[in-house]
Amino acid sequence: MQSLDALAREAVALAGGGSPVDEVARQMQICNACRYCETFCAVFPAMTRRLEFGAGDVHYLANLCHNCGACLHACQYAPPHEFAVNVPRAMAQVRRETYAEYAWPRAFGALYRRNGLVLALATAGGLALFLVLLLASRGTLGHAPLAGDFYAIFPHAMLGWMFGAAFLFATLALAIGAARFWRGQAPGPVSGGAVAEAARNALALTYLDGGHGDGCNEEDDAFTLARRRWHHFTFYGFLLCFAATCVATLYHYGLGRPAPYPLTSLPVLLGTLGGIGLLVGPAGLMWLNLRRHPLHGDPRQRPMDRAFTVLLFATSLTGLALLALRGTGAMALLLAIHLGTVLALFLTLPYGKFAHAVYRVAALLKYQVERRQASRLQLGSD
Ligand code: HEM
Ligand code: SF4
Ligand code: SF4
Repeated sequence: MQSLDALAREAVALAGGGSPVDEVARQMQICNACRYCETFCAVFPAMTRRLEFGAGDVHYLANLCHNCGACLHACQYAPPHEFAVNVPRAMAQVRRETYAEYAWPRAFGALYRRNGLVLALATAGGLALFLVLLLASRGTLGHAPLAGDFYAIFPHAMLGWMFGAAFLFATLALAIGAARFWRGQAPGPVSGGAVAEAARNALALTYLDGGHGDGCNEEDDAFTLARRRWHHFTFYGFLLCFAATCVATLYHYGLGRPAPYPLTSLPVLLGTLGGIGLLVGPAGLMWLNLRRHPLHGDPRQRPMDRAFTVLLFATSLTGLALLALRGTGAMALLLAIHLGTVLALFLTLPYGKFAHAVYRVAALLKYQVERRQASRLQLGSD
């Protein structure tokens, strides 16, 4: 094995000259000789199982990194040091490459590059579509109160086909992307234990705890659990809203009970709780994002992160406003605004920040599969 000095000299010669994958490989060679951050997260134990870092290894490690910032603040080789080691930034740059490379259809991978603009255009398009549909069906934006009867405005079958198709397309695109990523990894047999541990890591966001339970870094080297907490509100809020939609579909088709549902019914309770989570979570994440240390992550991806966060916030805000005012003459307008926002969210799910959920879960699963196998190197702690 080369000494740290020799590796670092070699790395400095290569610095800045290669692709994002080359840059992660360069930094991993330095980290693999240093290993100070070995206990911080899953990335470093996974790194110690390797001496070479090919594109597949780098894609895996990049999606395993949670951008917590701990290794940047701990690093003696971080900028302004000439070795310029900034693992969270290098990993973030590769994550976007991963999303674009495995995207389906492949040509749509380019949508990740100017994603803030893509989401803004999709939202404007969704809103325009539903406002035109509203004017075409009723000739006016306002109306006499309809006791919350959404289907007097837009027929249920039309909404079912439209949103069913958008949802199936998003699910298919994400599933094909994840399958392409997984095929390139070939991690070996997947045990039930590995699946359970990976699910726990994803649901608890284990690796946003900085390796010691105190949380991650935001604007400076202080540790905070805030990002993990706001993410939990966002993630579980999203799941509850999704559950509300599933239960409402079951009520409609299975029990023959169409909307509107009373405030104490299961779909409305799930939707209200989820909507509140999806309101406060994205607001908290945005507040942290605006204050994040300038060296964390990839500045070129901030529009993608922020646009997705705003779209989630807008989805829950318009949904809760619709619930509160569904008995008034503004219901049709609010419904059109909410449906346009949800359509934009569904259609852009596979081509923006949401992709992180799929690739991160796949990387966490590979980590749990790999750590159950004996290391070929017998060097690391894991
Ligand atoms: C279980 C799968 C998921 C995992 C493992 C995960 C993990 C993470 C991690 C580690 C971050 C911080 C680093 C980064 O900016 O990339 C993050 C950010 C974010 N996640 Fe997730 N996530 C998951 C699912 C979701 C879902 C389902 C949503 C919402 C629908 C969501 C919304 C967000 C948002 C809005 C951010 C941006 C925060 C920011 O830029 O400050 N995540 N996620
Ligand atoms: S990030 Fe820095 S301190 Fe941590 S292992 Fe790499 S070189 Fe060492
Ligand atoms: S930023 Fe955090 S999660 Fe990413 S490699 Fe560094 S310590 Fe691990």
